[in-house]
Amino acid sequence: MVKKINKAVFPVAGLGTRFLPATKAVPKEMLTIVDRPVVQLAVDEAREAGIEHFVFVTGRNKAVIEDHFDKQYELEETLRSRGKLEELRLLESDRPSAGQTSFTRQQEPLGLGHAVWCARELVGNEPFALMLPDVLIHASPGCLKQMMQTYDSHGGNVIAVEQVAPEEIHRYGVVGIGKPAGDAFEISGMVEKPSPEDAPSNKIITGRYILQPEIFDKIANQNPGSGGEIQITDAMIQLAEDQPFYGVEFEGTTYDCGNKIGFLSANVAYGLEREDIGPQFKQALKQIIAEAGGL
Ligand code: G1P
Repeated sequence: MVKKINKAVFPVAGLGTRFLPATKAVPKEMLTIVDRPVVQLAVDEAREAGIEHFVFVTGRNKAVIEDHFDKQYELEETLRSRGKLEELRLLESDRPSAGQTSFTRQQEPLGLGHAVWCARELVGNEPFALMLPDVLIHASPGCLKQMMQTYDSHGGNVIAVEQVAPEEIHRYGVVGIGKPAGDAFEISGMVEKPSPEDAPSNKIITGRYILQPEIFDKIANQNPGSGGEIQITDAMIQLAEDQPFYGVEFEGTTYDCGNKIGFLSANVAYGLEREDIGPQFKQALKQIIAEAGGL
């Protein structure tokens, strides 16, 4: 029996410079896909996969994320007194229960690996999920739930991977492909942001991880890597000397909401599939595209 994954870590300390001026006062994770903040969608995915505790690694200017996952007592009372029960139910069902969230701050922007390390005390000595909220994965069941199947049968460490075009590879961590392991495969190597000739495959690390707690000691030993930052991939390379890593090619569509095209595409895709606004939105889009000279 593998140890159940109860906690997920959400690094949300990034500055969001690509979305200025929107992100001057609003954290990029609070930008919305239709009407749900990006970070809420990551929490939704975690809850679906059975996660019961949500650890956020935040930074200065991010306090509103904590407010978002709190009970907004006055708002809820107002909704109740006005009979807006549908909206009230939505707020209640989205909200983790009291005590299910923890927040800590990454005091300096030293990299993703360092952000994860900041969660070490809150995670403790148990395996955990790591979810990068910028990477929005539209999938049913969700990506983390798909990964849990591999974890339940193999244990160890599990990473979501997907294939990208050769010219995209240098922007990501890349895995080497080893032996098949059920629906997944053993990862034979990893490299962070390789040049095309150094990439072991065209399968990239997609922002969802299940990691064993020994990762924290490995992070603590890291020198700055790619981009002068403490990289989670470098710590995983070391951990892979002692423990297995599996790659899961999940079913689903990824939107990189850390850049404008990915963010706008996600809004279009999620808007179109909404029952309440989808058909009308499609008409509006058709008109906009026709007026812009067609496709
Ligand atoms: C991080 C990881 C990288 C991964 C990527 C997914 O990079 O370091 O391995 O492929 O997220 O989006 P970042 O986007 O923070 O540069």
